[in-house]
Amino acid sequence: MKYSGAIGVFDSGVGGLSVLQHIRRLLPDERLIYIADSAHVPYGDKSPEYILQRAQILTRFLVEQGADAIVIACNTATAAAVACLRNQFSVPIVGMEPAVKPAVAATKTGVVGVLATIGTLESARFAALLERYGEEVEIVTQGCPGLVEQVESGELSSDRTRKLIENYTSPLLERGADTLILGCTHYPFLSPLIREVVGNNVVIVDTGEAVARQLQRRIKSELPVREAQLAIAQHECKENAHTKFFTSAEPAKAKSIMSVLWGESIQVNLLPNEFL
Ligand code: DGL
Repeated sequence: MKYSGAIGVFDSGVGGLSVLQHIRRLLPDERLIYIADSAHVPYGDKSPEYILQRAQILTRFLVEQGADAIVIACNTATAAAVACLRNQFSVPIVGMEPAVKPAVAATKTGVVGVLATIGTLESARFAALLERYGEEVEIVTQGCPGLVEQVESGELSSDRTRKLIENYTSPLLERGADTLILGCTHYPFLSPLIREVVGNNVVIVDTGEAVARQLQRRIKSELPVREAQLAIAQHECKENAHTKFFTSAEPAKAKSIMSVLWGESIQVNLLPNEFL
């Protein structure tokens, strides 16, 4: 049978590209479809109902495009929508949450800082994480309004971005945190600047690679037939493994920032009207 599957990945904007890079590295033969929902960014200050509605629309589009596995490359959207999406769609859905477990293993001071959106920090999923690990270490949190917008506009090293990072990391460091979790997929693009601000003695934890590995495990166990078809498709046509990019915002603008973040010049398509 001919292979026609793909992995669909979405985020509130361009941040999920930090996860997509890990997926591409780990699964070089897969066809990938990415949506940056940048017309609706940031999700961090929207209601869970609004985010769920967007997540349903984007997942429907990805499934219609042939996605047989979905990655929610967004901590905020996972918190608001993963449970409903799993009830509604029959494809495997991989979500993500701040990587507290590896941070707990890494800390020496026993204090872990979490940088995330307000939406993630106020969610029931995050409360459950705190309950699970909060007895082993002290977990201090910091919402970071404005940081996502800096990444969306390509300001990865501007003075304003640096100022925001200083403001958001210093309370955590003052509390004794020696490990910082990047609890939003936009923040890995600010890693070099965060590293400059916090110095070399702080461990910075990102979740992207773990999500890619989790996706690989789920595909292997839940879509075994597809695995075999993919191997044949790859043998027949190397072009199968391309990545297609969509945005809900202005494609020309999206193209320039997404090309920088992705590391090569890419085409970015506008989502069809009914999904905007
Ligand atoms: N990239 C997102 C996350 O991982 C959402 C950021 C936002 O839109 O506020 O949480």
